[in-house]
Amino acid sequence: MEERERSIITRNPIIAVVVIESIEDAVPTAQALIEGGIYCIELALRTPAALEAMRLIRKNVPEMIIGAGTVIKPDHIDQVIDSGAHFGVSPGMNRNVVERALEKRFPFAPGVATPSDIEVALEYNLRILKFFPAEPMGGLKYLVSAATPYLHLSLQFVPLGGINNNNASAYLSSRLIPAIGGSWISDKTLISGNQWATITSNAREASIIAENAIKE
Ligand code: 3PG
Repeated sequence: MEERERSIITRNPIIAVVVIESIEDAVPTAQALIEGGIYCIELALRTPAALEAMRLIRKNVPEMIIGAGTVIKPDHIDQVIDSGAHFGVSPGMNRNVVERALEKRFPFAPGVATPSDIEVALEYNLRILKFFPAEPMGGLKYLVSAATPYLHLSLQFVPLGGINNNNASAYLSSRLIPAIGGSWISDKTLISGNQWATITSNAREASIIAENAIKE
């Protein structure tokens, strides 16, 4: 990602993963998150409603920064650009997807889980990477160890996978980590159950954790 995208991530330490099944839930979900202080989402391309949800949020909740998630095919890059995404992420390191993103000058953070993945990302000069799946891979301890050989290259990681209010603070205390993300704030059942007040209170709790996290 370029400098302007680095600043988006730095200003938004919590990224709420959002999966939209019903299109009418898109705008209320984004509004509920903003009400709780979260201004950045990863809207996953895992449902037929995802692209239309992106368009609606971009139009009706313009202050929300929209990351497209589960971008796993080159054509997804074109689709999410057309739908108004500000940046994209993927679970894995797929050269074809990264190359399309670079060709379109679309800010993109591929998922990495191993030093081999990191080195592929470095071939493309990518410096902000999604670390996925964070907790099952071994969490912060694993990430610090895997990233050590590359510290001189100023890499930064956005961990997702198994993160919640209990471990968020530990991740955010690392200088390697400008932001974290996950589905715990606005999970699928909260969205489909229209539990907007709970989403707002989860968002507020996570925002407070981020505000209080002190970098070591
Ligand atoms: C993702 O899309 O990055 C993951 O589904 C997030 O993982 P979580 O559901 O464990 O937060």
